[in-house]
Amino acid sequence: MDDFSLSVKRTGGSAEPYWHDLTVPIISESMSVLDALIWSRANADATLAFRCACRVGMCGTCGVVINGRERLACKTLVANQLDTSGGAIRVEPLRRLPVIKDLVTDPDDFFRRLTIVKPNLSPGGEAGEPAVITPDSSERLTIAPHRECIYCGLCYSACSMVGTGAGSDREFLGPAAVNRAFALVEDSRDRSTDERLAVLGGKQGVWSCRTIFECTAVCPKGIPITLAFQKLKRRLLVDKLKGFFRLGRRR
Ligand code: FES
Repeated sequence: MDDFSLSVKRTGGSAEPYWHDLTVPIISESMSVLDALIWSRANADATLAFRCACRVGMCGTCGVVINGRERLACKTLVANQLDTSGGAIRVEPLRRLPVIKDLVTDPDDFFRRLTIVKPNLSPGGEAGEPAVITPDSSERLTIAPHRECIYCGLCYSACSMVGTGAGSDREFLGPAAVNRAFALVEDSRDRSTDERLAVLGGKQGVWSCRTIFECTAVCPKGIPITLAFQKLKRRLLVDKLKGFFRLGRRR
């Protein structure tokens, strides 16, 4: 059984962050980075802290930075990383979130920004049950990929605009919140579109995006998040132009 070198960025207590180098055996061809972390905690250091739950890429709790890139640890194969990294794997906590301990970050800011766009469907009034969008409709095709989000925070960590305006009324919402808002804005059953568009077009909204595609590149579900930004920008502009024309006609 071959070994490989696993370096984990560790933080805890009052000590400065440091790299903890571990030697880990390659247990199988399908060994994931999460398996390596679990092995390390069981066999080398029981104090190593990280999160995981489903181990199949569904719960979104195991997001970390592996060899400089945001990834789900449970879906990242050790073998693939060793092929591209010259035989070593470095694991760090997600960026732009406070670190609680080792690889465990505090997601409060991430979820707080989601609440700003009202992340739940607001049907409003009486609706027939069940209120459906048919599977083959263009509305469903538009919305479906954007509803795949598992709120893992990888896009938030990768986005260089997250953190701009922090603590002020210009604090950028970030990719996950905008993606969720887009899915609801495009949903004909929802009745809070105007409210959401006001937030998305405001100081915290889509205009902070520089279209660098980092969010889309790291999304483990392949959600075209940048496309959501672009479509929202276009809609906001069209709505604004319509407003001008209506105003012009009244004069
Ligand atoms: S453990 Fe659930 S996504 Fe990785």
